[in-house]
Amino acid sequence: MDEVFDITVNGVGHTVSCAPDTALLWVLRGDVGLTGTRYGCGAGSCGACTVLLDGEPVHSCDTPMWSLGTRAVVTVEGLGAPGAPHPVQRAILEEQAGQCGYCLSGIVVTAAALVDSGADLDARAIRTALDGHLCRCGAHNRIVRAVARAAGVPDREEGRR
Ligand code: FES
Ligand code: FES
Repeated sequence: MDEVFDITVNGVGHTVSCAPDTALLWVLRGDVGLTGTRYGCGAGSCGACTVLLDGEPVHSCDTPMWSLGTRAVVTVEGLGAPGAPHPVQRAILEEQAGQCGYCLSGIVVTAAALVDSGADLDARAIRTALDGHLCRCGAHNRIVRAVARAAGVPDREEGRR
């Protein structure tokens, strides 16, 4: 039986009605109308569906609505706008890091959380943070380069060529 959920997405409140075990991904795409969050594996293995819940990256494909509670959702659309992109979004464009782009929504969300965390980053920390994100185009190195650019750090680990 459907239940009613009040959720906040990118700072805007929405009331949706769905079965409690509906994945957040489908609510975002189907009810809220934000299709930037992608369906990849549906099993928590590829990272394409990543969104932020209270600032923490999570897989929206395996986040049932009943588990959301009061946590605020931020999707890739909420990170920036075409005229005012997030530094990670800008760097992805400047480095021409995307190929087909399917993986990028999730990667940008995770990378933005990392860059915005204020942590002392290096190339290894960036690679580790993005480890769970699959890119079938093999654009990993360009993506890491872009995130490093956004973070203002070198894109290579010491001793790595
Ligand atoms: S679609 Fe969610 S992790 Fe792959
Ligand atoms: S750019 Fe195509 S899957 Fe990553």
